[in-house]
Amino acid sequence: MKILIVGSGAREHAIGEKISQSPMCDKIYFAPGNGGTGKVGENVDIKVTDLDGLVAFAEKNKIDFTIVGPEDPLNLGLVDVFEDKGLKIFGPRKESARLEGSKAFAKDFMVRHNIATGQYIETSNLNQAIDFTKKLLDESSKAVIKADGLCAGKGVFIVDNLSDGEKYLRRILKTGDYGIKKVIIEEFLEGFEMSLIAFVDNHTIKMLPTSKDHKNIFDKDQGLNTGGMGTYSPNIQASPYLADLEEEILNPFLKGIQADKMDFRGVIFIGLMITADGIKVLEFNTRFGDPETQSILNRLDSDLLDLMIKTSEDKLAEADLVFNDKKVLTLILASAGYPESYKKGYEISNIHQLEGVKIYHAGTKLEDDKLVTAGGRVLSVVAIEDSFEEAINKAYKAAETIDFEGKYYRTDIGPQVQRFYIEEDLGDFEEIEKLLEKNNIDKSKIKVYSRYDYENLNQEEGKDLCKTLAGNKKSFYNLKAFDLQKTFEKALVVDLEKEAEFENMYLEKSLVLASSKEVNKNDFINLKRALLEILQGSDGKLLGVPTKIS
Ligand code: AMP
Ligand code: GLY
Repeated sequence: MKILIVGSGAREHAIGEKISQSPMCDKIYFAPGNGGTGKVGENVDIKVTDLDGLVAFAEKNKIDFTIVGPEDPLNLGLVDVFEDKGLKIFGPRKESARLEGSKAFAKDFMVRHNIATGQYIETSNLNQAIDFTKKLLDESSKAVIKADGLCAGKGVFIVDNLSDGEKYLRRILKTGDYGIKKVIIEEFLEGFEMSLIAFVDNHTIKMLPTSKDHKNIFDKDQGLNTGGMGTYSPNIQASPYLADLEEEILNPFLKGIQADKMDFRGVIFIGLMITADGIKVLEFNTRFGDPETQSILNRLDSDLLDLMIKTSEDKLAEADLVFNDKKVLTLILASAGYPESYKKGYEISNIHQLEGVKIYHAGTKLEDDKLVTAGGRVLSVVAIEDSFEEAINKAYKAAETIDFEGKYYRTDIGPQVQRFYIEEDLGDFEEIEKLLEKNNIDKSKIKVYSRYDYENLNQEEGKDLCKTLAGNKKSFYNLKAFDLQKTFEKALVVDLEKEAEFENMYLEKSLVLASSKEVNKNDFINLKRALLEILQGSDGKLLGVPTKIS
């Protein structure tokens, strides 16, 4: 098959790479592509908003299937134009793409179909807008102002005082800086964010792996909103909520499009906030996320082309979605100054000798065989490993190696898991004691710890939790007492929340055995093997999640 991919970002590069692995794929064109996509296929110089140009190209070159990456062509009706000419294409039609194109339309859809979202008003009237912003600021410390159009992630303002609020409201409603002169003003939702992406057609909805975006330009979520500075998958905070997400968000979404007789075939990408009051929708996007896609496609083992074709033919029910357990991290290298003004045209070097990472291009181009910067977000560095710890190391090592003037990246992409250990009495773990005896290992050389990984608590709360769980046992933030090199950590039953005193947090308990240096290598390996056997018979699994230890 001949495939046309519309777009020029790292998301399209990632889609292209994945599609190229399909046995059905013979040739890929990118319109317009970038300095990296030319290696996967052929770049053609047509803008994503040039609908006539894209149709003419597809007809002339007998394209079998077209995939639309970004939102602009969807909102202009590219899918309608293609389908009306009998050309096959992946993505929602214009009417359905309004779920992203108009925040007011999306909010109305959520309210009508009982999908939880923050309280809001939509208005074009400045006084009414100011009054509602004031009301929200009186009720809580912040309010959210959103221009009602497509603004590449830059039309959302979180304000904590009325004078800032008024400034943005005037820019949107009076000066018209963001296109349409209409705003959504919304209550500020407190919690943790996640990105949920699903394939959907008119009968079926199927979730892709969870991920988490980092939207702000600076570390610790400071500074302006961007298109996204990095992602990771899985979003470990979201794991306790998967069933709720199906029931409260995805199923009502499918019922909603059916009730509204909205023809929706493509992907729905839902921005969510998990709050103390439950899961709430922040926004809909009717396309793959960037940089979410770079992470999640590396967890998909199924044939992406087959999935997309089946979705576009309303046969998603027949498609197989198979995922792997890898931990994937995507780190964006950007041009200094992004998301505001930045310079382009700097040579990119040291990009070819990298080990253990994939590089997807975004704002790059080839000038006389020289790779140069050509946009705000320049490259996505993607590391795919068995643990986040390793993925983070690999991605950051590559980010340091790659060189271009003004290279900027966040230094804190990845799950912020914190960890403490509580020393347990070996006598409470009969099976382990027996194993030690069987392997002739001196019990005094082994210690058992409960290890707790948590996210979403501040330092004080973390300490309180540790105290509560430890009672009068010894606890540690770092397991230096024994030789960490020889610590083998196996997660036993993963039980969330039950032991937590705090709402809305992630907590994972694992059992850790640490051996002193005197246990020799062979004994150690035998013990590890024997332990694996115990685990396979229980609820345990090899620990793959935790990550950054702080
Ligand atoms: P949106 O384009 O609507 O997803 O907004 C962009 C970003 O602004 C989101 O990813 C959130 O980080 C933040 N945001 C949007 N709406 C809210 C809200 N109601 N409460 C808190 N943060 C929000
Ligand atoms: N990463 C956010 C987006 O694609 O809109």
